[in-house]
Amino acid sequence: SLDDLLFFYQGIPYPAPVCSAETFQALEIFEARRDDMVVVSYPKSGANWLIQLLNDLVFTTSQTKHENVELPFIECGDPEKYQRMKQFPSPRILATHLHYDKLPKSIFKNKAKILVLFRNPKDTAASFFHFHNNTPDVPHYNSWDQFFSAFMNGKVSWGSYFDQAVAWNRHLEDENVMIITYEDLKENLASGVKQIAEFFGFSPTAEQIQSIAERGSFQAMRERSQEIYGSVGATLFRKGAVGDWKNLFTEAQSQEMDAKFKECLGGTKLEAHLKY
Ligand code: PPS
Repeated sequence: SLDDLLFFYQGIPYPAPVCSAETFQALEIFEARRDDMVVVSYPKSGANWLIQLLNDLVFTTSQTKHENVELPFIECGDPEKYQRMKQFPSPRILATHLHYDKLPKSIFKNKAKILVLFRNPKDTAASFFHFHNNTPDVPHYNSWDQFFSAFMNGKVSWGSYFDQAVAWNRHLEDENVMIITYEDLKENLASGVKQIAEFFGFSPTAEQIQSIAERGSFQAMRERSQEIYGSVGATLFRKGAVGDWKNLFTEAQSQEMDAKFKECLGGTKLEAHLKY
């Protein structure tokens, strides 16, 4: 059953094929570096997009060839990965879907910069559903309705979108934190790249920004996805659009999510960022 494929750690469900108690325990003593570039997002918000932009930024503005040899999601994989990561050259790109209070403490202690990515919850849920149902080895849901109610109740991998959003909303103005939204990146990628570069202390030229934005377009990334991600490429880079939720949500589900969003985040800074 679906529940067998979820693994619970400290009350939050995670996908059993990629997460384990051993890795979570090892993560507790993970040492972040001050120059680590941390990307935090709820699943399906565009993390792989940001990882690509950051890789390109590091690569185009420095002489050293930067290779992300390790799965950048820090909570996924085997427990020995943190030993291997000690050998990686700076700056390392660390991505995670963990909730605020589950992040390794050394990220805060060592003042690594954290880029927080959010996407409209309706498109996030729609993307999450398609990911589950299009990817082999990932649990399939019987119907959109079944997934929708699991999503609303936080009974999906990495837990509740709303819990994560509420927690981050309190920290959006913290030192070393910047928020960016999927929708803003879609609207003007070059401007997003520029903002991200400034935040992490890179100084790309206008041409470099332009070329990073071109390589980071949905079309360009989808074309390269097979080569980089293998067979999951096509499902990871599915549609890349804003508003695709309209093809799945009923009017009642749309209203239910609006009400939940208002209840959790009405009048907040995050609501303003998401232009919800
Ligand atoms: S994961 O599995 O949680 O790490 O997925 P994540 O990478 O966070 O999110 C996947 C969605 O991001 C879309 N995406 C993009 N959209 C626009 N432009 C670019 N370049 C881009 N790259 C990835 C991807 O298509 C997934 O969304 P959907 O709506 O399913 O297409």
